[in-house]
Amino acid sequence: MALPMRPPSLMESPPGAETTIDGRRYVYFGGTGYLGLAGHPEVIEAACAAARRYGVHTATSRNGFGSSPPLVEVEREAAAFFDTETAFHYASGFTGNHILLQAVAGTDRSTRVCLERTVHFSAREAARLVAAEVIEFQPGDPGSLADAIRRKARPAQPVFVMTDGVSPVTGAVAPLRDYLAICQEHPEARLVVDDAHGFGVLGDEGRGTVEWWGLWAEGVNGAGSPDRERLLLCGTLSKALGGFGGLIPASTRFLDRLRRNTHYYEGASAPAAPIAAAAARALAIVRARPELRRRLAANVLRLRRGLRALGLPVPEGPAANLGLAIGSREAMIRLHAALKTQGFLVPHLEAYPGAGPEGVLRFAVCATHSDAMIDALLAALRRLL
Ligand SMILES: Cc1ncc(COP(=O)(O)O)c(C=O)c1O
Repeated sequence: MALPMRPPSLMESPPGAETTIDGRRYVYFGGTGYLGLAGHPEVIEAACAAARRYGVHTATSRNGFGSSPPLVEVEREAAAFFDTETAFHYASGFTGNHILLQAVAGTDRSTRVCLERTVHFSAREAARLVAAEVIEFQPGDPGSLADAIRRKARPAQPVFVMTDGVSPVTGAVAPLRDYLAICQEHPEARLVVDDAHGFGVLGDEGRGTVEWWGLWAEGVNGAGSPDRERLLLCGTLSKALGGFGGLIPASTRFLDRLRRNTHYYEGASAPAAPIAAAAARALAIVRARPELRRRLAANVLRLRRGLRALGLPVPEGPAANLGLAIGSREAMIRLHAALKTQGFLVPHLEAYPGAGPEGVLRFAVCATHSDAMIDALLAALRRLL
């Protein structure tokens, strides 16, 4: 007999370095608000002002009258942030992979997808919707990808190689340079990167994993390379940026194609104005205050070094999220509970792509954690391990 579902925990404050959950305040190392912007007073005020002026819903699609001024502002801010001609802001980051595949594959039914085995649900589901065949390759293994393409791709057929820029669970950065080089050897292969956890975190300008690998000049979504869309990129505003909804930076030509080939323009409500206004403000803050990203990078280093000093198997890496399998499932559940008792919330993640059967303790560090908070977590772990 199936066990009854546990009632969900209630988050009763904005997510941030300190977060109230089920009536108790924790030093919070969960979630994905890496830049600590979800509770930023300017972001909240932008959302409130937009709600007063435009209401809480667009009640129409982009092809209707759904393009509110705050939504247009998000796309303008995002284009400036990513140095692209334009951008597309849509209601759910989860749909980004599907939008990209539809935009490029159109009605072509011969499409193959090579899928990194541990990729997020959203890529897997998008692949199933669009592809004639899905071939999996080993995570972080260019040789395995090359082999998959060699075995399955036919010269005139489109092939999409799908990966997360940063693994949502482990925080591993995908070897995009190698993946892209492999795609370039095949006339119709394209690399699709879901950079949900890279946007705002990685790269000198915070543009994410593509920038971190020095590949920004290759051009994403038609930018800078009008004849080819070799490198396709989507991300979300609902993680580092502290907002909500998906984002695709693009050339205007690519965006025209996207509007023609997908139904997310005419068939989905546009993001609501308060949500868009919050995201626009968050993007403006990140552009104006690079010290936020520098602070995040320093915190990432402090946490990773500290965990390594405890003897934990923590690789070097720039990602603000890190999943660790520390012992058995039961041991991790106990550790999670003991940390919670001491006022630290580090989620134990199970049944998520990239986690083994025992799950992982998933640490998320944010720019608003103080050194003292990180050191206190490390001290608690030292006592408990
Ligand atoms: C890699 C990846 N893609 C997409 C999403 C979904 O984005 P959103 O939560 O903004 O819908 C997530 C969130 O869990 C993710 O980790």
